[in-house]
Amino acid sequence: MHHFRYTDQNLHCESVELAAVARLYGTPTYVYSATTMADNLHRLKNSLIGLDVQVCYAMKANSSLAVLRHLGNLGAGFDLVSGGEIRRVIAASGDVHSSVFAGVGKTEDEIRLALENGIFALHVESEPELARINHVAGTLGIQAPVAIRINPDVDAQTHAKITTGKQGNKFGISLAQAKLVYEAVAKLKHISLKGVQMHIGSQLADTGPFVEAVKKMVPFVEELKRDYGITYFSIGGGMGIIYPDALASGTQEWWDAKPAAQRPVSPESYGEALTPLLAPLDLKILLEHGRYIVGNAGVLVTRVEHLKRAGGKNFLVVDAAMNDLIRPAMYDSYHEIVPLHRDTSRRALVADVVGPICESSDCFAKDRQLQEVGEGELIALMSAGAYGFSMASRYNSRSLPAEVLVKGSSFELINARETFEQMVANEKIPAFL
Ligand code: LLP
Repeated sequence: MHHFRYTDQNLHCESVELAAVARLYGTPTYVYSATTMADNLHRLKNSLIGLDVQVCYAMKANSSLAVLRHLGNLGAGFDLVSGGEIRRVIAASGDVHSSVFAGVGKTEDEIRLALENGIFALHVESEPELARINHVAGTLGIQAPVAIRINPDVDAQTHAKITTGKQGNKFGISLAQAKLVYEAVAKLKHISLKGVQMHIGSQLADTGPFVEAVKKMVPFVEELKRDYGITYFSIGGGMGIIYPDALASGTQEWWDAKPAAQRPVSPESYGEALTPLLAPLDLKILLEHGRYIVGNAGVLVTRVEHLKRAGGKNFLVVDAAMNDLIRPAMYDSYHEIVPLHRDTSRRALVADVVGPICESSDCFAKDRQLQEVGEGELIALMSAGAYGFSMASRYNSRSLPAEVLVKGSSFELINARETFEQMVANEKIPAFL
């Protein structure tokens, strides 16, 4: 469910007309619904009924300060993967004490920053990393709280580039090896064992792989609790969102019309499947979802530059490009594309929706059927709240896009479009040229 709807044929985010936002701040612009994020967080938090749950929002999905402040205000901790992300949480006055620090290549400086700011735990991916954490904690004269990331070797049945819990991925430690690692850890002076972690992949469409992974982990987690007194089990993130029916899936009717067997994963089905497996552990459960919380809460608004006809095809050239939203080029992802003004009297158009960047992968959709739109008109790429702006770049010397947050009938610019001066601010032409 989300809060993007047509009212009088004009697409709104909550009570704000998206065209009004575009008029004020130009395009391409990401627009987020604060209420959708709050609803999603709330549903996740309540998905594992009766369990002690902490949501650590995976901020890699969308790390804008306003989003962090909003989710932090609602009680979220954060799943952090870099010094920059730790600093962002601090800058947004988020709670580092309820946050975890993950990632396969934490530097000494990053580990120090996390520890100095009272991180809840570091999620450890390898033995060399443990030794490094032990060393840094030693120099600070403290014990570092850690959990080991286990790779449960489960097929997440998602895109190869975002599957992480299979043997052969760079992530985590295998179940077979894990016992020895925990034994070794217990002997390290500056490490305090707090928990265990897993994450099998992103954009999972059903509960099956989550269940399989948790089932594989449970006997080991029980052992860890008994032998080392661990207090939490982080089951990672990865809950998928609806991309192809994005607009329609914002309503309860859409969900109600789906036969139970065809319903995509939701916090409720996830909770129903996992609560019985997790409850007997009697541990705190950490959830690290990113996409689920923000994905359907954002759209990318873009303006049509031209409708070009070539080689028997239509190309709708828009002012957003792969630098603004890399997902279609990188993961062949599907984003529903809708006009900001719906006009049912218009003809249908089948077109490739492309950006102006000089490579063929700068394509948001191939042979997509859309309402005919012309130069200057506005369209929205749906479900762009996760891994949209956070993966944006300046490729082709294009400025980073603007971001706007909507709540009810209020909206505000939360990130101004980058200026050319900001883009080149750190560059310097050496004196020898
Ligand atoms: N926890 C860990 C350890 C992770 O590696 C990730 C995501 C998450 C949590 C959050 O996963 P989520 O709930 O958002 O699925 N750029 C890709 C997605 C990469 C996900 C990386 N890890 C995309 O645009 O689809």
